[in-house]
Amino acid sequence: MASVPFFAKRFVSGTNLMDAAASALALNKKGISCSIDLLGENISQEAEARQCAEEYVRILSAIGDQKINAHVSLKLTMLGLDISENLCKELLLQVLTKADQIKCRVAFDMEGSNYTERTMATYEWAAKRSQAPEAVLQAYLKRTPEDLQRVISANGRFRLCKGAYKETAEVALQNMVEIRKQYLSLAKVALLNCTHTCLATHDDALLQPLKQLISETKVPKTKYEFQMLYGMREKTWSELANEGHPMTVYLPYGAHWQAYYSRRLAERKENVFFVIKNLFKS
Ligand code: FDA
Repeated sequence: MASVPFFAKRFVSGTNLMDAAASALALNKKGISCSIDLLGENISQEAEARQCAEEYVRILSAIGDQKINAHVSLKLTMLGLDISENLCKELLLQVLTKADQIKCRVAFDMEGSNYTERTMATYEWAAKRSQAPEAVLQAYLKRTPEDLQRVISANGRFRLCKGAYKETAEVALQNMVEIRKQYLSLAKVALLNCTHTCLATHDDALLQPLKQLISETKVPKTKYEFQMLYGMREKTWSELANEGHPMTVYLPYGAHWQAYYSRRLAERKENVFFVIKNLFKS
């Protein structure tokens, strides 16, 4: 398997499950939990989708066997959603069955808006069959307040992020002030009504008001966590954990790092500078 190039290593824990498990255990020692993600999306071959489902079962076995404090995140297009809905559901059930055995969460990462309705419908279907599903919604999408009500009615397990895909003004807010406003309003509804809320952001303009909301709503530590991406704001992970907030790091691994890595570069100019600096260092 091709290794992850040095410039992408900041954001990707390695190419194989052993790398991811070692990184996860190291983070656990610092009081930080993980969401392990096998990189890859928009799979077009059934055999490959089946291999991905098998790898997720292996991840879940490793979490159970090695007592890793972690859950998993997956993309439905990795489990064949572009090929057929039936195939995707069949493979998803394999993963959810293993997750239920070890009492582990499975977050359904949200992809571009072409997939939002299908991802929501599959999450609702899965939540009737398993304890594990966790929905992910994007604060920039105009439809998200209604989708959050669907999550609350399904099983209330929820991650909120801003959204990482290029979307049109028809479906998504384009202005950061409005996106932050919608993020905070959704976070309040979630903290008051969801079984468990994951607040995924690196944004200082959100972190302080979110801490305020947590204190005002008196939500217990068992019902929320902050989440950040591997390679981004490591000092803040420890600060939040030391302040007593549950903290989880999204930990991707695998050979298919390009699409994930491109999204991280698109999000922040500092990430591009990081790559340029390292190119000149080498
Ligand atoms: P953003 O990148 O908007 O940054 C805003 C401000 O935050 C900056 O101006 C700066 O002040 C501060 N900041 C950010 N990074 C910093 C750094 N490295 N150092 C110092 N300051 C920094 N998206 C999606 O579409 N579907 C999904 O399923 C997920 N899942 C997901 C899980 C998790 C755990 C996370 C953290 C994120 C996602 N995302 C996602 C990605 C998400 O939608 C979004 O694109 C990124 O988190 C970027 O938005 P932020 O709010 O983090 O800050």
